[in-house]
Amino acid sequence: MEKVRVRCAVEGDFSAIKGIAEKHNLTPHRYFTVYTPDSPKSLFEKENQVIFIATRASIVIGFLNLHSEKAFKANCHTVEFEIVVDPDHRMNGAGSELLNEAIQHITSSTMADTFVAKIKNGNIGSERLCEKFGFAKSSKDSLGAYWELKIKR
Ligand SMILES: CC(C)(COP(=O)(O)OP(=O)(O)OC[C@H]1O[C@@H](n2cnc3c(N)ncnc32)[C@H](O)[C@@H]1OP(=O)(O)O)[C@@H](O)C(=O)NCCC(=O)NCCS
Repeated sequence: MEKVRVRCAVEGDFSAIKGIAEKHNLTPHRYFTVYTPDSPKSLFEKENQVIFIATRASIVIGFLNLHSEKAFKANCHTVEFEIVVDPDHRMNGAGSELLNEAIQHITSSTMADTFVAKIKNGNIGSERLCEKFGFAKSSKDSLGAYWELKIKR
């Protein structure tokens, strides 16, 4: 099997990312809905967002959207992420490669001290992925929980 590769999204990845997000958002009973890009340029023009994609054999198989309320280079303390790997490509390390890249990016390119994701109750795959990288549950409501990682520099 070809290796998973991770890189920042470019304009040409727009349709693939949109397709994965839209397919994912058809299952709101199982997962929280995720960001769907509205234009190719929106993938990389925002100061408070970075999108990474995972490819296998040059096919886009997943993405991770890093975002914050303030621009990353400003006084931004918390960065949130959403991640989706195409169901046909799960359990083969793509999620881990994406999250690893995102943590490295936050550590080296932002001043954020907290990395967070909201995960719906019963979403075992996302919980296992977060646990693997040292995230812990911080707060919860009836639908799901926030999982946090304190960034160490
Ligand atoms: C969460 C998600 C991105 C994981 O992607 P993935 O490519 O399957 O992740 P990996 O293969 O790197 O797996 C990471 C770890 O979690 C475990 N894992 C993943 N899915 C699992 C599942 N359904 N049940 C049990 N363990 C699971 C893997 O075994 C692996 O552990 P290991 O490395 O110790 O063996 C994927 O399941 C997904 O897209 N889910 C739907 C989207 C979603 O819910 N996003 C969360 C909103 S932020």
